[in-house]
Amino acid sequence: MNICITGALGHIGSKLIRNLSIDNLEKVYIVDNFLTQRYASLFDLPDGIDFTFYEIDVQSKIMKSIVEKSDVLVHLAAVTDAEKSFERADEVEKINRKALEHVADLCAEKGCSLLFPSSTSVYGTQEKVVDEDCSGRELKPQSPYADSKLFGERLLAELADKKGLKYVTLRIGTIFGYSIGMRFHTAVNKFVWQASTGRPITIWTTALHQKRPYCDLSDCVRSLNFFINKNCFDNQIYNIVTANFTVQHLVNVIKKYLPEINISFVDSPIMNQLSYEVSNKKSTELGLTYQGNLEAGIIDTMLKLRNVNTGIKMRTTT
Ligand SMILES: NC(=O)c1ccc[n+]([C@@H]2O[C@H](COP(=O)([O-])OP(=O)(O)OC[C@H]3O[C@@H](n4cnc5c(N)ncnc54)[C@H](O)[C@@H]3O)[C@@H](O)[C@H]2O)c1
Repeated sequence: MNICITGALGHIGSKLIRNLSIDNLEKVYIVDNFLTQRYASLFDLPDGIDFTFYEIDVQSKIMKSIVEKSDVLVHLAAVTDAEKSFERADEVEKINRKALEHVADLCAEKGCSLLFPSSTSVYGTQEKVVDEDCSGRELKPQSPYADSKLFGERLLAELADKKGLKYVTLRIGTIFGYSIGMRFHTAVNKFVWQASTGRPITIWTTALHQKRPYCDLSDCVRSLNFFINKNCFDNQIYNIVTANFTVQHLVNVIKKYLPEINISFVDSPIMNQLSYEVSNKKSTELGLTYQGNLEAGIIDTMLKLRNVNTGIKMRTTT
């Protein structure tokens, strides 16, 4: 099997390309335009896998020949900073909508199965634990980023009807955990970065007691391998969530190891997004196992930053 991974040098992709566990894997086409400058993600790629790197935009004409020779395309390329997406709406439109359309059209035309990482942020505010049966009317994305993910989900359903596209949509919770191409925009990673570099943890006003869905990076990568190996491109949506936590819980775990940290409350354009909890029942019933652990993920990232000298000591025992 040949697979193409777009946005492969990012937080998720850089871990995936080091942990591919795919039956009969022949060639891996890595596509990334260095929008986020993650050059280090190309360091020390594992031996024994036939990688080819394309430094191109996913909207490039070259994508046609890459999709033509791929059985599966994992489309990770996107603008991913939800908070900043308010001021980057044009870029979100171009990359998360237009470029997805381009790639999905090629997949439909060439018979390549598409794995689309959506986000649990399409649920927005919800009163009860939500699952994939939540109706379209009940979805309440709260940022241009989350809107673009919902747009993507609907676009793929349309292309499946009209052009026979085979795809699967994974609504992934907020990722935590280390990879060489990791980013620090999202809750857990951002808090660990702030705490480990001697800054106060910045929490959106009202967010402390809100519950949100999170996904351990290892669980995310396990799910990508799982859906590809199972050839599960059934045009359905699956939530990929390790667990739901309050922000207070995240802070408590970090404080166990960095007890001197302070908290500072800040405003955010997405702070009106209230609590929501997301079920992973559908993906577990399919056979996916979740082995992630918040505390282990936090410690792992903290240890990478342990020698950043801020004067704040990390506790090694609790
Ligand atoms: N990290 C999360 O918490 C999370 C949660 C849910 C869904 N997702 C989705 O998973 C995917 C990957 O997320 P991530 O955290 O690895 O993102 P990331 O921002 O770390 O990586 C995205 C990569 O895409 C590349 N890229 C962007 N635009 C491109 C273009 N036009 N052409 C080629 N490459 C381009 C960037 O250079 C970067 O390496 C995204 O679609 C994201 O929306 C992520």
